[in-house]
Amino acid sequence: SDRAIGRSPAPDDTIAFLRSGYLYGTRRFRDLATDAYDARLGGIGGVVMYGRDAASVFYGGDRFSRERAIPTSVQHLLQDEGSVQTLEGPAHEHRKSMFMRMLDEPNVDRLVDEFDREWAKVRAEHAGQTVPLYDVGNLVLTRTALAWAGVPAGTVDDRELAGRLAAMVDAASAVGPVNWIARARRRRAEAWAAHLIADVRAGHIETASHTAIRTIADAGDHHDAPLPEEVAAVEVLNLLRPIVAISRFLVFAVHAMHTHPAWRARLDDDPEAAGRFANEVRRFYPFFPVISGTVRRSFEWRERRFEPGDRAILDLYATNHDRRIWEEPRRFLPERFEAWDGDPNTLVPQGGGAAATGHRCPGEAATIALTARFARLAASRPFEVPEQDLRISLRHIPALPMDRMRIAMRK
Ligand code: HEM
Repeated sequence: SDRAIGRSPAPDDTIAFLRSGYLYGTRRFRDLATDAYDARLGGIGGVVMYGRDAASVFYGGDRFSRERAIPTSVQHLLQDEGSVQTLEGPAHEHRKSMFMRMLDEPNVDRLVDEFDREWAKVRAEHAGQTVPLYDVGNLVLTRTALAWAGVPAGTVDDRELAGRLAAMVDAASAVGPVNWIARARRRRAEAWAAHLIADVRAGHIETASHTAIRTIADAGDHHDAPLPEEVAAVEVLNLLRPIVAISRFLVFAVHAMHTHPAWRARLDDDPEAAGRFANEVRRFYPFFPVISGTVRRSFEWRERRFEPGDRAILDLYATNHDRRIWEEPRRFLPERFEAWDGDPNTLVPQGGGAAATGHRCPGEAATIALTARFARLAASRPFEVPEQDLRISLRHIPALPMDRMRIAMRK
């Protein structure tokens, strides 16, 4: 684990990254026989790294900020000025605690209950039809998120919002026109969220005190000043959009069950198995390829001095498939989680380290609960999986099976 930091053979790796997609880092780590190397990506130099050791350095000790961490065109889709991910120190910890509260156990339980109701409705709506699970999932999860967050029914076109929220994630790695379209959609979604916050604050919309939109509308910053309307709006989207993004894991759960049919029976028999299955779905399938950070405090690692402003990229996909951590990483084996030690820097599809103090995703428990719940529902065969192209290209970020996982809903 103390190999020297290598160097990419190419003067710039942007093209290599676009060509290889999720496997870009994995191939370089293999060819250079190292777990860290210098490379230029998107015109900026930095260290690309993976594994438990790299993740501990990346997430521990408050060493990295997310400032200029991703190209601004992507940043404007996935987060925005003033959002939790752009904050550091006490301001970050304060805002993060709001997310941790909104996504605590009782709220996750309510989220799963809402999901059950919305799934039952959509199942009835599409009885007898063949539909792409990805799109149906986006709609179910949008309705789930709206009901759960306390947005009154009928105040928003849920199909349109589902399309907008999904487009933000789908276009995250696109450059040029696709990205501009998604940015325009994002601005419209932000305008809607800003109106919503204004209405809640003015008392035009009644919401229960435990709901997420009430929490965000009432939240202050770490000096107790109310959040500006635009910032509150951005955090509403930071809550709704990633819930909808769980649709990818619903798709991957069905993909896994279809390609490993023995799991269907196991999920039906044993509720504990669903949690391990959900974790293996999150480990095995591709979603966030890498996360990038900028050094805020100097430190030394592998005989290299990292100075403020230096950039590092942690390869999440490579860490989730690291042979030093996972036996037979290319096999889908939920059983592996029976013996897993729970080290936060090994299973990192949603980031590493601690959620409350670092930038790790606060929505992990919600993601696991919804994916596990859906896996159990799917195991009871509410639909068939018709013949289709099940291939998942690792060159396309974010990944999805070719046919978006078509399912034939039972009558
Ligand atoms: C952060 C992934 C679901 C809210 C992150 C990060 C990743 C991630 C990779 C960045 C970690 C870092 O910067 O080091 C995912 C994936 C999800 C998911 C793959 C499943 C679809 C959710 C859900 C929510 C959520 C359900 C909330 C409802 C957030 C927020 C942050 C974040 C607010 C920023 C945290 C911070 O900067 O402190 N997520 N996430 N995510 N996620 Fe998620």
